[in-house]
Amino acid sequence: MSTTEAANYLRAQSILDGRTLNAWHGYAVQHLADGRVIGDLGIWLPSAPENAPDIGFQFHPAYHGRGYAREAVEAFLTHTFTTLTPPRVTATCASANMASQALMKRLGMRLVEATPEDIQYDVTRVQWLTHVAAQ
Ligand SMILES: CC(C)(COP(=O)(O)OP(=O)(O)OC[C@H]1O[C@@H](n2cnc3c(N)ncnc32)[C@H](O)[C@@H]1OP(=O)(O)O)[C@@H](O)C(=O)NCCC(=O)NCCS
Repeated sequence: MSTTEAANYLRAQSILDGRTLNAWHGYAVQHLADGRVIGDLGIWLPSAPENAPDIGFQFHPAYHGRGYAREAVEAFLTHTFTTLTPPRVTATCASANMASQALMKRLGMRLVEATPEDIQYDVTRVQWLTHVAAQ
C-alpha cells in the first residue's frame, strides 16, 4: 500500500459509521507504554444477516509472542459483542498459519471448517460473554 493509499484508507475509516454493513472496520492497536502502533485488527460486517461478522488481526513481528494480540482481540470481541450484539463472530486464516490458529484456540474459539487452504473458527455471543464472566 502506498502512502497515499494508506492516507485515503485512514481518512475513509475515520468517518465510517461503526455499524455500516458490507464494510471493513479497522482499528489500530497502540502500545500504551511506548505509544507505538503495534498492530491492527478489525471486523467485516456482512450485509446478509445469515453471515457472521468476521474478524482479522495482524501485529508487528517485534511485538509477537508477548500476549498483546490475545489482549487486544479479547477486548475487541467484548466490545463487538456488547455494542453490535451479533449472535456469532468468525475468524478465518490460512491453514498453515499456526500462530493465528493458536491465538483463536487460546481465545476459546471453536473450529468450524478446515480445507487445505483455509481454516475457520467461531465463537457465539453467549459463549464469549460466559467466558468473560468466568475470568
Ligand atoms: C497471528 C498473530 C496476531 C499472533 O500474534 P502473537 O503475538 O503470537 O499472539 P500472542 O502473543 O497474543 O499469543 C497468543 C497465543 O498463541 C500462542 N502462539 C503464538 N504463536 C504461536 C505459534 N507459532 N505456535 C504455537 N503457539 C503460538 C501463544 O503462545 C499464545 O498462547 P498462550 O497465551 O497460551 O501462551 C501474529 O502472529 C501475526 O500478526 N501474524 C501475521 C498476521 C496474521 O497472520 N494474521 C492472522 C490472519 S487473520
